[in-house]
Amino acid sequence: MAIIYQRDKEHSGSNRIFTIHTAHSTYQMKVDAYGFLMHLYYGGKISGQMEERLSMDYLLTYYDRGFSGNPAAVGLDRTYSLDALPQEYPSLGTGDFRSSAFALRNEDGSESCDLRYVSHEVRKGKYGLQGLPAVYAKEEEAETLEIVLRDSVSGVEVRLLYGVLEKEDIITRSAVICNGGSGEIVVEKALSACMDFVAGEYDLISFHGRHAMERNLQRTHIDHGSQLIGSRRGTSSHQYNPAVIVTDRNATEENGSCYGMMFVYSGNFMCEAERDQYDQTRVMMGLQSDLFHYPLKPGESLVLPEVVLGHTDRGLGALSRMFHGAVRNHICRGKFRDRIRPVLLNSWEASYFDFNADTICALAESAAELGIDMVVMDDGWFGKREDDNSGLGDWQVNERKLGCTLGEMIERINGFGVKFGIWIEPEMVSEDSNLYREHPDWALRIPGREPVRGRNQLVLDFSREEVREYVFREICGVLEQGNVEYVKWDMNRSLSDIYSARNAQGKVTYDYMIGVYDFLEKLMQRYPDIMIEGCSGGGGRFDAGMLYYTPQIWCSDNTDAVDRVRIQYGTSFFYPASAVGAHVSAVPNHQTGRRTSLRTRGVVAMAGTFGYELDPGKLSPEEKEEIKEQVRQFKEYAPLIYRGDYYRLSDPFREAFGAWMFVSEDKSRALLSAVMLEIHGNMPVHYVRLKGLKPDAVYEDARSHKRYFGAALMNAGLPIPMKMEEYAAYQMELYEI
Ligand code: GLA
Repeated sequence: MAIIYQRDKEHSGSNRIFTIHTAHSTYQMKVDAYGFLMHLYYGGKISGQMEERLSMDYLLTYYDRGFSGNPAAVGLDRTYSLDALPQEYPSLGTGDFRSSAFALRNEDGSESCDLRYVSHEVRKGKYGLQGLPAVYAKEEEAETLEIVLRDSVSGVEVRLLYGVLEKEDIITRSAVICNGGSGEIVVEKALSACMDFVAGEYDLISFHGRHAMERNLQRTHIDHGSQLIGSRRGTSSHQYNPAVIVTDRNATEENGSCYGMMFVYSGNFMCEAERDQYDQTRVMMGLQSDLFHYPLKPGESLVLPEVVLGHTDRGLGALSRMFHGAVRNHICRGKFRDRIRPVLLNSWEASYFDFNADTICALAESAAELGIDMVVMDDGWFGKREDDNSGLGDWQVNERKLGCTLGEMIERINGFGVKFGIWIEPEMVSEDSNLYREHPDWALRIPGREPVRGRNQLVLDFSREEVREYVFREICGVLEQGNVEYVKWDMNRSLSDIYSARNAQGKVTYDYMIGVYDFLEKLMQRYPDIMIEGCSGGGGRFDAGMLYYTPQIWCSDNTDAVDRVRIQYGTSFFYPASAVGAHVSAVPNHQTGRRTSLRTRGVVAMAGTFGYELDPGKLSPEEKEEIKEQVRQFKEYAPLIYRGDYYRLSDPFREAFGAWMFVSEDKSRALLSAVMLEIHGNMPVHYVRLKGLKPDAVYEDARSHKRYFGAALMNAGLPIPMKMEEYAAYQMELYEI
């Protein structure tokens, strides 16, 4: 049993203790004599036979703290203050003056909420969340704990949800806020998870970035003063990824205590980390509170997206592998979840807006010759769309541009034995489009104000059902014209001008996301055989929420191999390679102007789903031969890349090389990849130490047939061969003999 409930005998049964065990971690909380839900512990597993003695409430200390308020319920006891006690769901207005997880505006305008325990329930299986993506599991793989808290004045009820995947070491947290009172209230802030630590010094690892350079790692001390990351862009964003790690100060790749927090949501979010006056640490994650004022009438409720928590004592590498497993097996869904996905050739960097059916078919013909499985027709095939200033919203095939119908073109492509995929951007509208001319109020804009433009386009109000339904119908109309086997779902600007002609304004950012999920769910249900790849100007919406609908996401618009080593390194902390869209593109690279060898570009793209983004017609016969070999090799390695355990072997932000490896579950096969990032005259030799192998097994290099002990590869490493070349890449496949 993963969830244990006990009444604490020492306090005449008034304390209730909840203990959650996963394979390697323990989480404990208690309802105290006043009904407050306290957090006691989260960390390495604490196991023992005598479960009654497990209570760790001795960790809570009580002192008279000046200027820290005391709840009325404690009477004259000035040693009890929520300002100093660790809690599960701290709310504003209780005398806890730290940042809170929950803030409520009551009907009288006051901002206060005093949540106390009402009841709880332990259930088999993992809870689901209405309208939202969430971790899923078979009934026997998970348990749910629901704890109901209530504010007796407003009648507001908060149902805290804990999902426990014992084997995976995963605990999920979410909540449902219900207005059980008689007045209208406004939820001003509602985070999903709070981690309070009574002692210790911690670091926060977060992933910041920008368009075309996403998920750079930043590690800072959690100190006095609040550290806040998040997004107000309507998407999870290129700027901060909705996933962070809290570590001991000395934690490394291999060692130390680390907590992961990953938000299963693709819209506005926030994460706050703060050390308080007593050197206690609080880290919280959930919906962004800016642009969010969610009104609830009596009887209405709000479901919060969930945060996935994971803890390990074995360092960052183990934490990443834990999240990779959770994402691969309990977030991604659909027929393509466990499949090796098609190697694809995308038209974007090959021809941008300048194509017709003949040029797309020429790509398909080359694809067939090179062993590539699929051709994707990117932006530019619909409405009036010769550049990115017009046409979005008019999802009608531009047959004049193509020179034939879509169906005819797909038949020609399939005739080469090649699959066909297509690009869409359903959430958008260009002002220069028929859709906008007919329905200007369908775009998010504030009456009387000129809207902020992004890529010269506006955002459709996806919080409105009729808007979604219209776009859905139009897109289905296209997908049904032929054998479409893949869709790239793009989203190319941030939301501004948050105003809906039909919705309460404080709800729009949340309801927009619910609308996007609803659309994606319908698309998935209707076309289970179409694979959807997510995209938002590359990796602007690279998160676990989208991965529930799209098993892979275009990782970045930056296809430069050297930058990609770093982007993919940051991405790897939470997301498995099977989720990372990565392509080989032309040189000089279109984003950086850098030249790297075809081999290097191939090795880097093989840390993801793999494909091409170039015009094979412009390649030399030698390059074509090399690509043929690359594709063949990728297909051979693919099971390892998709399903193997991932190990980071260097930090490419600090070291002269990037290196990583995939190891099969039984450790009998491994793929090592390395890219030199620096070259100097008379350079020292760099050694890369392998990980994850069996120490006492003998491994053979598949190419040279040289043999090594696993322990030797892990303890002494291998010298990276020196080559008179910038950004040289190496790959080595190892078999246990
Ligand atoms: C975004 C995507 C690109 C491409 C273009 C098309 O930038 O990330 O891959 O699809 O849009 O306009």
